[in-house]
Amino acid sequence: MPEDLKIPTHIAFIMDGNGRWAKRRLMPRKYGHKMGVEALKRVIAVCEKLGIKEVSFYAFSTENWSRPQDEIDALLAMIKKFADEEMKEYVDKNYRIRFMGELHRLPEETQKALENIARAAANNTGIVVNIGINYGGRDEIARAAQKAASAAQPVTVEAISARLDTAGMSDPDVIVRCAGEKRLSNFMLWQCAYAELVFVDDFWPDFNEETIVRILKEYSGRERRFGGLK
Ligand code: FPP
Repeated sequence: MPEDLKIPTHIAFIMDGNGRWAKRRLMPRKYGHKMGVEALKRVIAVCEKLGIKEVSFYAFSTENWSRPQDEIDALLAMIKKFADEEMKEYVDKNYRIRFMGELHRLPEETQKALENIARAAANNTGIVVNIGINYGGRDEIARAAQKAASAAQPVTVEAISARLDTAGMSDPDVIVRCAGEKRLSNFMLWQCAYAELVFVDDFWPDFNEETIVRILKEYSGRERRFGGLK
């Protein structure tokens, strides 16, 4: 590992390119998502090894409901399988598991599985794994503002931050978008204020330790001023 690598506290990933990765292999899109789950597991392990404290992923957006039903069903089935299998292991590994988004639109069984995992891991002290499911940044901000207003609180930055799905987490230091796309697509719109944005051409299913180190090298070369002077 390069010695001058800066390790962020929080890194967030917009997982993209699963479909194109599969198409190149003449395989169905669902296979791309399946390999995307494998990449997700690899990336969590690498981030933990590197000493990153919080990691966020965009798994299913509020806009993804417009995809063909069989692709939605496949993604939801993968999320349920992940909850039933991997996440239990993560709870045992002392990972803290959180979700962003409105889980209540998910099938009841999936919702329950995710809520149980989050509850079981609530007091864990290891890496925080935060996954966006039926998540949209605008929706999250609107819900937080509504909660502040309903509590008859002045709608301040602090009041909104404290009511976001990420309440208590740090803002991401780096947001990674892959597969050649250069936009945030409604991901962590509030939390991205001073994040370093890193764009790579790699498709998500190809992500591994080398990809993460390359991203962190780019991050390490950035000068962060948070709106102040040099
Ligand atoms: C974008 O690729 C990816 C998604 C919409 C889903 C990402 C989900 C996973 C990696 C797996 C599910 C997650 C969990 C937590 C088990 P795309 O389909 O838009 O690819 P394309 O742009 O090449 O078509």
